[in-house]
Amino acid sequence: YGSMKINQNGHLEIGGCDSLKLAEKYGTPLIVYDVSLIRNRARSFLNAFKQLNINGHVAYASKAFSSVAIFQLINEEGLSLDVVSGGELYTAIKAHIPPKKIHFHGNNKSDEEMEMALDYGIGYFVVDNFHELNRLQSFCQKRGIRQEVLLRMTPGVEAHTHDYILTGQEDSKFGFDLQNGQAEKALELALTQPNLEVKGIHCHIGSQIFETDGFIMAIQKIFTYIERWKEHFSFIPEIVNVGGGFGIRYTDEDQPLEPYKYIEAIGKEIIRQANRIQVPIPEIWIEPGRSLVGDAGTTFYKIGSRKEIHGVRTYISVDGGMSDNIRPALYDAKYEAVVANKMLELPKETVSIAGKACESGDMLIWDISLPQTKAGDLLAVFCTGAYGYSMASNYNRLPRPAVVFVEDGKSQLAIKRESYEDLMKLDVPLYETVK
Ligand code: LLP
Repeated sequence: YGSMKINQNGHLEIGGCDSLKLAEKYGTPLIVYDVSLIRNRARSFLNAFKQLNINGHVAYASKAFSSVAIFQLINEEGLSLDVVSGGELYTAIKAHIPPKKIHFHGNNKSDEEMEMALDYGIGYFVVDNFHELNRLQSFCQKRGIRQEVLLRMTPGVEAHTHDYILTGQEDSKFGFDLQNGQAEKALELALTQPNLEVKGIHCHIGSQIFETDGFIMAIQKIFTYIERWKEHFSFIPEIVNVGGGFGIRYTDEDQPLEPYKYIEAIGKEIIRQANRIQVPIPEIWIEPGRSLVGDAGTTFYKIGSRKEIHGVRTYISVDGGMSDNIRPALYDAKYEAVVANKMLELPKETVSIAGKACESGDMLIWDISLPQTKAGDLLAVFCTGAYGYSMASNYNRLPRPAVVFVEDGKSQLAIKRESYEDLMKLDVPLYETVK
């Protein structure tokens, strides 16, 4: 991947940095991001729009991995930012993301979150439901402002992915349903709100998608309705946002397309549909998360104990696990790994990689071929850059790992390792002194 290679010591190197030295300097578990890969991915989405001569816009879905450093990097590359909570929004503001470049998502935005977003003057609310629509109108009226919004629609398209990360199907908690007239009511209402300006439509069909047909179907559905709304309300969307969901390669089973291929399919279909119903071609927005940061992240763990069950399995335990990567336990997600200090050694045995949490389900990888390992070796698990740190927990009071950015032979701390003191920060003792 990206800037990864094997150096002359037989060690895995990322961004020109020897991974053993990184582990020594920053400790383990350690999440290392290949910055040039993130830049390249961001640029390939932007360039795809340029090459196709499409007025496109890319927002990073920050839920995939949010921190001040990644937000700064994303901003440097000219992307906007999609946030889904007050916490992500606050982080974006602290990272000095221009508020106009922030889009606010979510199916249950609180009053406080909405007021905060209005205080900062963010670019767009992606309005998810009637409760939000009504409150947003009244907050904006009180402030005497007009807020630009997109309306999130549920297109009723099922992308082929894990049930938990499906979002575009009809039976979903997100958005206004197209099928049953809900979306039409929402649009009609929004268009009559004096303090809301409906700029366009949003939809998101799911995550880790390898094909373009789901996007195409969603676009076709949406335009069927836009055609109607053009007649009924003279509504013409200036923006059509098709969400994120572009897949990455975790293992050989995954066959994602190049960013260009997704954008080409989406762009061509939107142009075709806009021409069909005779409206100007809207701005096309996408919101990739995983495909910007997923395969740029690698987690390094120190190998510890070993348990052999003769004829059954060998468990190798590492110093992290479900607390820094819940995806195998939650989604049955598959990962590949190597022994970073033994890159030139041939596979010797099949082992299963266990995390250190007190939970049998805390397994990172089942049945992987690795060289002979011993305690102290450094295991590198690939493609952990999306929904790893951002879904991390302190289960068993395990401190969260450090995050490092590497590029051109330089490494830089992006998130400090959590300390035991950090873990205690919010605790309020019942007694100040021992009784
Ligand atoms: N836009 C919206 C409205 C979304 O809900 C999502 C993801 C994205 C964009 C970004 O999708 P991406 O490009 O990253 O696939 N925790 C799960 C993934 C949940 C995705 C939620 N929404 C996982 O670890 O696979």
